[in-house]
Amino acid sequence: MPHQDWNVDRRGFARTLFGAFALVGLGGADDAPAASLADLARRTGLRFGSAVRAESLAEPELARLLVRQCATLTPELELKWAPLSPRPDSFDTAGADAIAAFARDNGLRLRGHTLLWHKSVPEWLGRTSGWAPAERHIHAVMERYGALVDEWDVVNEPIDRAGLRNSVLLRRFGVGYIARALRTAHEAAPAARLFLNDYDLEYPIPEQADRRKALLALIASLRRQGAPLHGVGIQAHLSLARGPIDAAVLRDFLAALADQGLAISITELDVRERDYILPAPARDAAVADHVARFLEVALAQPAVGSLSTWGLSDRQSWLEVTPDDLARFPGAWQDGTGPGLNRGLPYDAGLAAKPMRGAIAGALTARRVGQ
Ligand code: XIL
Repeated sequence: MPHQDWNVDRRGFARTLFGAFALVGLGGADDAPAASLADLARRTGLRFGSAVRAESLAEPELARLLVRQCATLTPELELKWAPLSPRPDSFDTAGADAIAAFARDNGLRLRGHTLLWHKSVPEWLGRTSGWAPAERHIHAVMERYGALVDEWDVVNEPIDRAGLRNSVLLRRFGVGYIARALRTAHEAAPAARLFLNDYDLEYPIPEQADRRKALLALIASLRRQGAPLHGVGIQAHLSLARGPIDAAVLRDFLAALADQGLAISITELDVRERDYILPAPARDAAVADHVARFLEVALAQPAVGSLSTWGLSDRQSWLEVTPDDLARFPGAWQDGTGPGLNRGLPYDAGLAAKPMRGAIAGALTARRVGQ
């Protein structure tokens, strides 16, 4: 029985703060059609979800939208090693507990993102040696949250173009660290479904072709070592600057993963825009069209079992409009209005559904039941 300390410690707290969202309609701007994205996904054997930050749960309308549209939540930051463990002896679970309590109270599941990521390694790790700190971390997180988690991203972003990413994790733990992390996770929670998760795998450009090859080679090597691996997460941070999706390239890659007996999850779908100067309807149409093309191919692969966006509303997006983006359109927005936010998520900043939401709903509806 996994430890669920937050069930005991924070039950009352969580019920008071968040439980109401499950029970009463709080009003809000979610005027989406009757079937939720989670409903449409469920009918075709998929779990739909979104990333969320703990602080966003304090926004009633957003919390209500998450509960309405999602079957699963991905903690955007809170399960990562550095925030959980700012000091060697600390386990700072407040943020992750808040998301876990919210999920539990509203009947949602979690994606366990992520046990090891080179961009979230505690600074104190450099003063330790051996595998023990990673082992303690993996056990502690999986035991505390495992009862709510369907899929664990055991290692996030392990590859680069040339093969294994030469990361702080590789240098610290050695080339066997990925197999070791999978084995450790399997020991900590023998029934858990264990994933690798990575980005820039979607487009027919040379760099991404190399990355697809590197990921398949890593999987083959893990298989040879007998490491427990059940699935792969395709992040799907799409970009309108990268050109079109090539259906055959994406289809063949997903088929190659499925041929390894792996489940596939689309884990972090969003779209970075290119032409911020266009009027909002044109921007939204471009985003929706791109998502439709991607999902048409991705959801045709029967091994795809879950689909998550990296936030529901543009206001929560991690994608920022950069000075470089603005420099491409000299003279624009001198009236001070600016381009606003990147519009690459299914709901706008006011939580109104955008065409991207329609594209996701359409792709889910078109997927044949029982695939
Ligand atoms: C990002 C969060 O969205 C940001 O808020 C944070 O500053 C950095 O991490 N790929 C991943 C995610 O796997 O964990 C990243 O999340 C986005 C890229």
